[in-house]
Amino acid sequence: MKKFVGKNIHKTAIFISGKGTNLLSLIKFSNTKSSPITIEAIISDKSKAKGLNLAKKYNIKKFVINFKKRSLAERKILSFLNKSQINLVCLAGFMRILSKNFIKNYKGKILNIHPSLLPKYKGLNTHERVIKNKEKYSGCTVHFVNSKLDSGKIILQKKVKITKKDNPKTLSKKILKQEHILYPRAIKKLFF
Ligand code: GAR
Repeated sequence: MKKFVGKNIHKTAIFISGKGTNLLSLIKFSNTKSSPITIEAIISDKSKAKGLNLAKKYNIKKFVINFKKRSLAERKILSFLNKSQINLVCLAGFMRILSKNFIKNYKGKILNIHPSLLPKYKGLNTHERVIKNKEKYSGCTVHFVNSKLDSGKIILQKKVKITKKDNPKTLSKKILKQEHILYPRAIKKLFF
């Protein structure tokens, strides 16, 4: 625990676009005694993202950014992150692709969670594709973000068994439950 007092705590911004259930799991994790992160900001490209409600509840700064012009949006975010001295970015259901330039600014400091066993099923609609292909397993992956979509170095994965009864909805639910455990674990793995 001592290792993370003072400057060793990672000031973190969480990027979301939707419900924010991974955000909630990360907030809870950040509030545990030995957490290596503090959550300083929630950033969303959607003003109606449900996860934004957590900002008020947990007294975290929120920042909604219109991504119509990505370069402008990213410039605003980078300036905000700099001012807030953020040194870790966690994408948690953030459905935008960040530019090479943005990633370069935070090289090795952006993590993402993806609902498949990468490198399989990069991109969108993973559960639909997995079910259609009659896979026996799927899962989730926490990885570093690099300039290629869902292709950065893998930090941790969790396998989930698919039964005959599963459909994209039930599979998504099963995997999401594992995501909530995996993301904090991956962060612990990096910083402990
Ligand atoms: C999660 O399943 C996450 O893995 C996925 O969106 C969901 C967000 O849920 N992310 C992606 O598909 C990224 N390409 P949440 O808002 O409840 O955390």
